[in-house]
Amino acid sequence: MGMAPWIRVILLLVASLYPASVQCMVRHYKFNVVLKNATRLCSTKPYLVNHVKYNVSIHWHGVRQLRTGWADGPAYITQCPIQPGQTYVYNFTLTGQRGTLWWHAHILWLRATVHGAIVILPKRGVPYPFPKPNKEVVVLLGEWWKSDVEAVINEATKSGLAPNVSDAHIINGQPGPLSTCPSDGGYALPVEPGKTYMLRLINAALNEELFFKIAGHKLTVVEVDAVYVKPFKIDTVLIAPGQTTNVLLSADRRTGKYLIAASPFMDAPAIIVDNKTATATVHYSGTLSSTATVLTTPPPRNATPVATNFTDSLRSLNSKKYPASVPLKIDHSLLFTVGLGINPCSTCVNGSRVVADINNVTFVMPTIALLHAHFFNISGVFTDDFPGNPPIQYNYTGTQPTNFVTLNGTRLYRLAYNSTVQLVLQDTGMLTPENHPIHLHGFNFFEVGRGLGNFNPKKDPKKFNLVDPVERNTIGVPSGGWTAIRFRADNPGVWFMHCHLEVHTTWGLKMAFVVDNGKGPNESLLPPPRDLPKC
Ligand code: C2O
Repeated sequence: MGMAPWIRVILLLVASLYPASVQCMVRHYKFNVVLKNATRLCSTKPYLVNHVKYNVSIHWHGVRQLRTGWADGPAYITQCPIQPGQTYVYNFTLTGQRGTLWWHAHILWLRATVHGAIVILPKRGVPYPFPKPNKEVVVLLGEWWKSDVEAVINEATKSGLAPNVSDAHIINGQPGPLSTCPSDGGYALPVEPGKTYMLRLINAALNEELFFKIAGHKLTVVEVDAVYVKPFKIDTVLIAPGQTTNVLLSADRRTGKYLIAASPFMDAPAIIVDNKTATATVHYSGTLSSTATVLTTPPPRNATPVATNFTDSLRSLNSKKYPASVPLKIDHSLLFTVGLGINPCSTCVNGSRVVADINNVTFVMPTIALLHAHFFNISGVFTDDFPGNPPIQYNYTGTQPTNFVTLNGTRLYRLAYNSTVQLVLQDTGMLTPENHPIHLHGFNFFEVGRGLGNFNPKKDPKKFNLVDPVERNTIGVPSGGWTAIRFRADNPGVWFMHCHLEVHTTWGLKMAFVVDNGKGPNESLLPPPRDLPKC
C-alpha cells in the first residue's frame, strides 16, 4: 500500500548464547516495530495516524534473565516503555537454557500481533535426548481481531464488562482452509513419508488455551517450556497462552492431506462461548491438490478430561544428564487464590466492574518501574506486604462470601536470595471457576501437585511428586482446583507473576516478587544499562 510505518521503535537485542567462559558467541538482532495493514477474514485492518502514540516493551518469555532483570521487559515492572522513535538494547546472556521460547510485547494488548519464536539450539555436539528429527518447524498459534485490540480492551475497561472475543484463531498467521473467507488460505506443512518433524508449538493467543491435534497422526511430546520431558504419545496436546511445546510428528502415512486443528479449551460455565477452530494442513509430497483433506473433530470447548489426560502425562526427564532439582526443604509456604470478582463502579454499565485478584489484591500498575524503585530504594512506589495466604478463609471453590470486594494495591512479596518457595495457586469460583495459566518471570518452577476442589494442606502434600515433576514457566491452574509449584529464588530482582490470559491480567490478576541480593560475588542484580528508557 506504500504506507509509511507510523511508529518506528527500534529494539536491539544482544544475546550471548553461551556463558562467556565456555564459548563467547554474541548475537545482535535489530527489531524494528512498525504498524502495517493486514487482511484476514476478508477484512483489512488499517492503521491510522493516531496509533502513533503506542509505547512498547518486549519480554523474552521464559528467558531466565539471571541478574539482568532490566532486560526482562514487562512495562512498569522492570522498565519504562520504549517511546515512539526511541531505542533500547535488551542485553542478556542465555545461561544454560535451550529449547523453544518466545518473545512478545509486554504492554497493553500489543502482544496480539507483536510476537515471535525464540529457538535456542543445544550446545554444539550435544544431541537431543531423542532421535534427531529430519526437520524442525515453528508453529505459532494465535488469535485475530478484525478490530483494533486496544480499542476492544479500552471499551471493556470503561464499561466494566468483559471484552469481545477474537474473530478467529490462527496457525502461523492464518485462520486456515476452513475459514469462511476464501482468500485466507492456510498454513500447509509439507512432509515426506517416513520422515520425522519436530513442531515447536507456541501459544501466542491473548485469551485462549488451545487444543492442538492432527488428523490421522499421534504426536510425541518431548519438551515443554524449553525443558525436556519424558517422551509420550498423545492425540491431543493442550497448550495455554505463554506455553511452548515441542512435539514429534512421524509422517507415517504414504500420501494425502491431513487437517491440523487448534481449538479453544475453557472450563468456565459462565463465560462467553468461543468455539472457533483454526486449521492448517499436513501435506504429503506428491499428493494431488484435488485430494480431499482428512478431517478431525476438535475436542469440545469444555473437554476437561482431554486437558487433564495431557497435563497428567508430563514428567521431567530426571536423568543423570538432565536432573530435576526440586527444592525439598521449603522456606516460604504460600497459598495464593487466583480468581475473578465484581467490584462496585459508579461509572460502569451495570454499576459494577469485573475484576481479578490474587489473595484479594487487585494489582495496580505503578507509574515508574518497580525494578527501578527497588534498585534505587525509592519509597512510595510499592509495599512489600503481599499476603502469603488468603486474608479471609472461605470455601474457595464452593459457596462464595457475599459482598466480597477486592482491594487495590501495588504490593510485592519479598524473598531472600536463594530461599525456596512452595506456592499453591488456588482457583476461586467468586465470579466463575475458570482455568488460569499463571506465568512467573525470572524462574522455572516444578509442578509438584494438582487437584480439584480446595487444597488440603494436611493431605495433599503427602501425594506431591518430588522426583520427576514437570518443570516449566507457565502453569495451568485447573478450573475449580489448585496446583502447587516449587522454585528457588536464585535470581535477584523484581519478577512479575500473572495470568497469561491477557484479559485477566488487565483486570488485575498479577503481582510481583522482589528477590533481594545475596552476599556472594555473583548474587546481586547488575546496575541498569545507560539507555534504559525513562518514564
Ligand atoms: Cu509471556 Cu509476563 O509474559
